[in-house]
Amino acid sequence: MRNKQILAIPGPTPVPPEARLAMARPMINHRGSEYTAMQREIVEGLQYAFQPGGDVLIFPASGTGGLEAAVVNTLSPGDRVLSGSIGAFGDRFADIAEAHGAIVDRIPTEWGSALDPEVLRARLAEDRDHTIKAVLLTHNETSTGVTNDIRALAEVIRDHGALVLVDSISGLLAADLQTDAWGLDVVVAGSQKAFMIPPGMTFVSVSERAWAAHRNARMPRYYFDFTAMKKYMEKGQTPYTPAVSLLYGLQTTLRMLREEGLPECFARHARLGAAVRAGAQALGLRLLADPRYASPAVTSIYAPEGIDPKQLRQVVRERYGVVLAGGQGKLADRIFRIGHLGYVGENDIIAVMSALERGLGDLGVRITPGAGIAATQQALAA
Ligand SMILES: Cc1ncc(COP(=O)(O)O)c(C=O)c1O
Repeated sequence: MRNKQILAIPGPTPVPPEARLAMARPMINHRGSEYTAMQREIVEGLQYAFQPGGDVLIFPASGTGGLEAAVVNTLSPGDRVLSGSIGAFGDRFADIAEAHGAIVDRIPTEWGSALDPEVLRARLAEDRDHTIKAVLLTHNETSTGVTNDIRALAEVIRDHGALVLVDSISGLLAADLQTDAWGLDVVVAGSQKAFMIPPGMTFVSVSERAWAAHRNARMPRYYFDFTAMKKYMEKGQTPYTPAVSLLYGLQTTLRMLREEGLPECFARHARLGAAVRAGAQALGLRLLADPRYASPAVTSIYAPEGIDPKQLRQVVRERYGVVLAGGQGKLADRIFRIGHLGYVGENDIIAVMSALERGLGDLGVRITPGAGIAATQQALAA
């Protein structure tokens, strides 16, 4: 018999059986009262997740669509934007702004590090005329496994006055993010991460300041227009056909989230992250992320000397049924990543560590069998 598969990538993440069943329900009229009641419940659940996030809009698109929506709804061609990218997804956010005609300055940061609020402060201080309209931040950089201190970064930006646009696609629900209290103007999340449903929807919060910027923003837009979406969402609908099945799933997972509670959800992710790091280090593996900013959602690990991470992932998948993620961009040949966000529990992490140990052993890496699992379990118990 084939091994049961454990998906240990940082999205799409496993979907709980309750949500899978919910998504099998028949279609309903998306202009009818049953749909409206469901959407209203979901919007309340999203407010809870975003803490509370002003308006939270729902677009059928992957996370990148949400990033594009954040840019085109708040900026005009020729606007200056500062990118605080710390990895591949931060670079993408900057590229989107550039593609739409913004003039983007990029703060160089080594992959594996977080963005230093003092470096950001110094860059913004150079902008004496306050021509920078927005700063692009990544909450959790999935390509490196680093979580930025968004609260501290946003505080620095508020002193300057630029808009704070945040990619929290893989961060929201895995790590604390207080949209209103921290003054975040647009926050983008994605369905396929800690929301525990399949890919295909993005959630975008819009603050009062972002709405004010939106009224003057001249970048072309149609499908992702905030005004059209808000107008319809106030009626309990969306301007275009919504992803009804995904919303069934989301209704279910948001109820699960309320049952678990946000603090417990953050604590679970933190515990899983710490356990994965402990296990990997006990196997003699080197971690990429600065330990002060190690992500609760995903861990990036260097392959041992002389081992091709692609081959390691192949062995672990084919022999032990665990799917690990590869590195991205310039890290593609050097690291692999373990996702531990969403519908993931302690037993999953232990199974992943066991598969990793065995895969390393199969490739001739000298490890102490059981060392990774023991350290993982100890960290989980701590
Ligand atoms: C931090 C971050 N930003 C952006 C994206 C892009 O999202 P999508 O692939 O859903 O378009 C991802 C996806 O992994 C991500 O993790």
